[in-house]
Amino acid sequence: MRIVSLRLILSLLMGIAVVSLVFSYNQVVHQRHTLQLNLEERARLEAESLEGKIAPVVQRGRAQELQRIAERFRAHERIAGLAIYDAAGKPLAATAGVAEHLGRPSLTVLQALSGKHAAAAYSTVDGVPVHIYALPFEGREDAVGALAVVHDVSYIAASEARVWRDTLLRVLILGGVISLITILIVRWSLEGPIARAAYWIRGLRTGRVSSRRDLPTWDVFQPLAAELANLAQSFEAARSAAETEARLREMADSSWTAERLAVHVQSKLQGSRLFVVSNREPYIDTRHGKGIRTVVPPSGLVTALEPILCACNGTWVAHGSGDADRETVDSRDHVQVPYENPRYTLRRLWLSKQEEEGYYFGFANEGLWPLCHIAHTRPLFRASDWEAYRAVNQKFADALLEEMEGTEQPILLAQDYHFALLPRMIKTRRPDARIAIFWHIPWPNAEAFGICPWQRELLDGLLGADLIGFHIQSHCNNFMESVDRSLESRVDWEHFSIKRGHHRTAIRPFPISVDLPEPSEDPADESIYLDRANLLRELGVEALLVGVGVDRVDYTKGIPERFHAIERLLERYPVYRGQFTFVQIGAPSRTHIKRYHDLLAEVEAEAERINWRFQSGNWKPIVFRKGQHSHREIQRFYRIADLCLVTSLHDGMNLVAKEFVAARPDEGGMLVLSRFTGAARELRDAILVNPYDVEQTAEGIRLALEMEPEARQARMRRMRQTVRDHNVYRWAGNLIAQLCEIRVKGEPASTGTAAPGAAAGVSAA
Ligand code: F6P
Repeated sequence: MRIVSLRLILSLLMGIAVVSLVFSYNQVVHQRHTLQLNLEERARLEAESLEGKIAPVVQRGRAQELQRIAERFRAHERIAGLAIYDAAGKPLAATAGVAEHLGRPSLTVLQALSGKHAAAAYSTVDGVPVHIYALPFEGREDAVGALAVVHDVSYIAASEARVWRDTLLRVLILGGVISLITILIVRWSLEGPIARAAYWIRGLRTGRVSSRRDLPTWDVFQPLAAELANLAQSFEAARSAAETEARLREMADSSWTAERLAVHVQSKLQGSRLFVVSNREPYIDTRHGKGIRTVVPPSGLVTALEPILCACNGTWVAHGSGDADRETVDSRDHVQVPYENPRYTLRRLWLSKQEEEGYYFGFANEGLWPLCHIAHTRPLFRASDWEAYRAVNQKFADALLEEMEGTEQPILLAQDYHFALLPRMIKTRRPDARIAIFWHIPWPNAEAFGICPWQRELLDGLLGADLIGFHIQSHCNNFMESVDRSLESRVDWEHFSIKRGHHRTAIRPFPISVDLPEPSEDPADESIYLDRANLLRELGVEALLVGVGVDRVDYTKGIPERFHAIERLLERYPVYRGQFTFVQIGAPSRTHIKRYHDLLAEVEAEAERINWRFQSGNWKPIVFRKGQHSHREIQRFYRIADLCLVTSLHDGMNLVAKEFVAARPDEGGMLVLSRFTGAARELRDAILVNPYDVEQTAEGIRLALEMEPEARQARMRRMRQTVRDHNVYRWAGNLIAQLCEIRVKGEPASTGTAAPGAAAGVSAA
């Protein structure tokens, strides 16, 4: 850095010196010229003013009088000297200063006499620079003599010297100031940030700091900071993955990680390309002031599917629902994601308001959603919605077929109840495609499903897939029974497959899950998450015991039911009044649908009613936090809660239950879980309740609050182990593995794949 400073200083000094010298030189030349002109003019005027006085005296030949005139003139006019000559150039009188020098006629005087006009010259007298002005004067006919006025011109040289001295002084002062400023700028803007960045990078390399926190101020290097932070994050992720892998190898563990999933998928795909289709996109771009904000919807899907897509540079087709989505795509509606480290393609598909209304709000969420969830909300089947659902499925299928062009034996993972018709649409056009659809919601029993006017079309559409996944075995059974009752097909209960026409579909359970990260060793994390007092202060309540619930505000989640259980707890056990507060995080969802709109109002009104009944001082029983909350915010609540309440009336899996367990490395807290969730099949150590039974749920809450710490810890430990072993990466790995086992049309039998019914695969949970 010293060399840089020195180079900067020297270059600046040289520049300043050259510019100053050029300007000073010009100034000197100009100044000299002006002073000389002034002097010459003055000399002329002085000489001419004397001429009249002197000429008659010279003619009369009065030398003494001439000498007096000369002395008097010199004294008055402050000139260096004056000399008077006759016509032959013989000196008649001269003042003291110049007598010796001008005692004999000088060349200038002789030039004036001979040429009969004034002559001037610069010379020196006793080493002093002078200006001599000689003026001849004439009688009636001829020249009678001349006079010479001498001025000391040393002041011109002195003034030039002053200019040069000032220049030097200016260069020196500027040099000093600029050197100082340069040193300070280099130190503050370069040396400081570079030293801090180097310290941070060293800390990162040695694992002393985190890439997300402790990021130093980068000043002029700010544009580099984001890139380096990303690089550092990848570096951290790679290190933590390597550590985890090493630990797992050490423990001979078979746990799944994002990295293991990526390697697994690469080996299974054997060069095939992977496509995912879902209604909700993984990155939503929305307008935020003058900029764009990207939101990742809080769903386990992105966690599970992103590592797979990244591993094989896949394509995800989804509805572009963000109001800034169109601004970030290219001409083919593609955008590379994740934005900070693009690894796969998101193809956005645009839907008109009418299409969204009929397909998403209408058939999917007012028809299929209440049909599949036994939550006593009547499904609405409108022919116009069905038509929109069919048309939008076709639109997605066309987009996928376009993306698949040129790809042999593509692999498609379709997601959820929005796309029941799509597998058949793709299979008809691309029999070589391997297609799986995962149904994220329950499949009701055959009688319940049978009320749908388009049940046969839905089942036939789904059976276009090679593999249909549900969360649990009983949903598989319900599906097979629905097909058995309504479609011409061969239902094979032995191999859990269905043959319709010449095509066979395997039906399997794949219980979805979450990631269970290893506990952070960063003490800063602890202080953020475990600060219960801070969180309660933020909420404006005082309580000793805290419960939490995190849900989309959906009638299947049993939110009013859980409020009633809390009310009952406080009625039966008044000791909890002033002690226990339940925080409900509720994200408004699908509010365009009246049932959801009304439910939101109902939830708010119930919370208010119960609070009004029991609250006192700074305590109240229910805090309802309406709105979207980030993963980080939700983690804070999970980590401080004494219990988590999941009271779904019917739920395919319910990932909140697993997220709560995953968020508690301290093995604290307790889960109160509805027995009507898929999660209840795996998390047997939770306190299982029937949410319709208010008394039982209230008792469940009391049991959770009063359980012995050792018993609670043992239960949480076992549940954590279950989630760890059956995490979301295993879910995705199993799904892909089973799909890749299936032989599709045009594939030679020698590839090692098997017919769907015989798919061996890896054990699915
Ligand atoms: O539970 C089914 C599901 O599709 C989830 O995958 C998703 O998180 C949730 O519903 C949200 O639904 P929506 O996309 O309608 O907001």
